[in-house]
Amino acid sequence: MIGVILAGGSGTRFWPLSRKQRPKQLISLWDNTPMIDSTLQRLDEISSRSKTFVVLGEHLVDATREVLEDIEFIVEPCARNTAPAIGLAAVYALERFGDEPMGIFPADHFIGDIHKFRMCLNLAEAKADQGHIVTLGIEPTRPETGYGYIHYEKPTGGHHRISPNDVIEFVEKPSRKVAEEYLESGDYVWNSGMFIFKPSVLLAEMERQLPEMHEAMMTIREAIGTDREREVIDEQFNGLQSISIDYGIMEGAENVVVIPANFDWSDVGHFAAVDEVRDTDGNGNVVEADSLLLDVKNSVVYSEGTDRLIAACGVEDLVIVDTEDALLVIPKERAQDVKQIVEQLKKTG
Ligand code: GDD
Ligand code: MG
Repeated sequence: MIGVILAGGSGTRFWPLSRKQRPKQLISLWDNTPMIDSTLQRLDEISSRSKTFVVLGEHLVDATREVLEDIEFIVEPCARNTAPAIGLAAVYALERFGDEPMGIFPADHFIGDIHKFRMCLNLAEAKADQGHIVTLGIEPTRPETGYGYIHYEKPTGGHHRISPNDVIEFVEKPSRKVAEEYLESGDYVWNSGMFIFKPSVLLAEMERQLPEMHEAMMTIREAIGTDREREVIDEQFNGLQSISIDYGIMEGAENVVVIPANFDWSDVGHFAAVDEVRDTDGNGNVVEADSLLLDVKNSVVYSEGTDRLIAACGVEDLVIVDTEDALLVIPKERAQDVKQIVEQLKKTG
């Protein structure tokens, strides 16, 4: 299939490891490999590198190029969220390779078992080839409000088999109360943010639900390969509605199926989530630093770009991240609030 890696996000919850020009997908949290590189490596045997695009904003091109050398970039002049980014990838895919299934992959996720991942994708590709929009669903473990939920037609018989199931409803980021109901019912899976479809199928849904955006994509398509290509993308993008694929297309799409994934997956949304995907020491700590920890439990300790020793004693459930020019200390349960620190820093310069 054609591979599309979405890498235009500006996640701020990994500051000070991540910065504006170096968002989450360009840092490494567990294996010394930038996440976007792991994402690409995972696609080996699924899509060849000559059929893989990375979609990203202009401001990220240089830093991303340092990590990925030979992959084609599709560059957005300004961020308009994922619906336009995916629309753009679809028109490029059609122009370059024709109407074969394409897979959309966020650049910054953890996936545990590559073999199972690839099996799911082979099934997804076959289903997409028949004209379906395929999503990969994850068994929910908590009433998370930062994800999309997929209500689906569960197979009868109860045996665990990965198979495509019809989607009844797709609900992006429900309230806490609704998320709790979904979790309890057992009839929902999380949307993993990975989608597989033929470019023509996505564009037909876009034409139905977001006709102006579709129009812009058709104008761009005509300009691909001409000397006006860049100019037309700039003109068209500026006026586009900023909307995610989830709200803009998935919630109202017809013909969606979900494959419940059988591999470990995490969006790793903040520092407190790294213990879901990394080995901990005997005290439940994730440590990636030169450190001296006495009676420290269930904490996350990172350092980067400095030789400073991190010493701590008698603390629990803490996040400590040291870099050359900034040190972060925050309770694990407030790890999401790193975002607030970044906003404050933006205001005060
Ligand atoms: N090229 C490009 N341009 N990429 C973008 C843009 C953009 O304007 N905005 C976001 N992205 C990329 C991000 O880098 C990330 O890889 C992916 O698109 C998804 O965007 P997020 O901003 O991380 O979305 P989310 O986490 O809030 O929600 C999505 O993912 C969840 C699972 O992680 C939704 O699809 C949810 O339904 C889903 O549960
Ligand atoms: Mg995300």
